[in-house]
Amino acid sequence: MIFKRYLTLAIKKKIPGFVFDIDGVLVQGSRPIPAATKALKFLHRNKIPFVFLTNSGGLLEKEKSLQVLRKLGIEKEFPPVKTILSHTPYKALSKQFKTVFSVGPIGSSRVLREYGFEKVFEASDLIEKYKGIAPFNMVSQRKEPYVSDNAKISEDGLKFDAIMVLSDPRDWAADLQIVTDLLVSDNGKLGSLNLAKDKKTIPIFWSQRDFQWKTEYSLPRFALGAFREMIFKLFAIVKQPELVTLPDFKQINNKEDLKSDKIEEFKILNTITEHVMGKPEPIAYQFAKKELDKDFIEKHGHDSETEIGEIFMVGDNPLSDIIGAHRYGWSTCLVKTGVYYDGYKLPVTPTMIVENVEEAVKNGCKRAQ
Ligand code: G3P
Ligand code: MG
Repeated sequence: MIFKRYLTLAIKKKIPGFVFDIDGVLVQGSRPIPAATKALKFLHRNKIPFVFLTNSGGLLEKEKSLQVLRKLGIEKEFPPVKTILSHTPYKALSKQFKTVFSVGPIGSSRVLREYGFEKVFEASDLIEKYKGIAPFNMVSQRKEPYVSDNAKISEDGLKFDAIMVLSDPRDWAADLQIVTDLLVSDNGKLGSLNLAKDKKTIPIFWSQRDFQWKTEYSLPRFALGAFREMIFKLFAIVKQPELVTLPDFKQINNKEDLKSDKIEEFKILNTITEHVMGKPEPIAYQFAKKELDKDFIEKHGHDSETEIGEIFMVGDNPLSDIIGAHRYGWSTCLVKTGVYYDGYKLPVTPTMIVENVEEAVKNGCKRAQ
């Protein structure tokens, strides 16, 4: 009996598994990449497991899946695709942090409420409640109403336990101001200030740190990592105003000043208690693997004579999708429909560089035969 079981295990046929990045692989902003429709249809027909793993966010997982399938024009013929967003791991933190400040598109704090966080506020809530808190904001231009938690603000104000960054803010001025305020505050109390150089900040969670991403525009655009760089700079200057760049660019004339400024800035930045999720962090690939296994079981059942062999990460960003998957031990397909361009200095050599996602799927399936 044991021998028979061993034999069955030993001869299991291997099939590939695919993990798809979204922006720059399946779509470019609002524009679909036609090769993606063909690739997904092929995998669906042939019961080959696949999931979406994106660094984008601000929506629920099932909403993102639907949004992508809709852009590709296949939402009617396709079941929802298991989707891991950059902030999916936040679900596990909902009981640990009670009052949180949410950063992302206007209204996206509802995602954190859906994840189970008790008190969630975003810039819009605070702008309505505290006059002048972010004077250059876009909230006044907001058209659609959304459910706000600002009725829950007590008379003695707000004390935040953490900052949860979901996705790129749409209102940078407001979010740059309020996130910096909270990082220099006294233990998260809004409106307070603690400029002690060694004071640790409240935790800030970044759903990812991509510096660039691909839209329908010809050149890559700033992503959340660019916002993070701005926060670092502003935080350091608020803590140590001498770090501001002077009109005479003293650094150019005095190398020593530059050196000591940098050391000072580095020490200050070390007080930021930050946690980073998303690709290329291993946590993103762990979540994707779990979902890929579930997709395999749904397509083939528990007693299948096949199993997932090689896993291919199909991505456009060498510094995110590709390096992370490479370190995680997966094969990697770098596509040319996103931020990568000929001449890009690659941090690791991908398993293959292909024109688009359809070629990645064809080549991946061939290798499995
Ligand atoms: O960093 C921006 C984000 O939209 C990238 O998404 O799908 O390329 O991981 P994706
Ligand atoms: Mg991408």
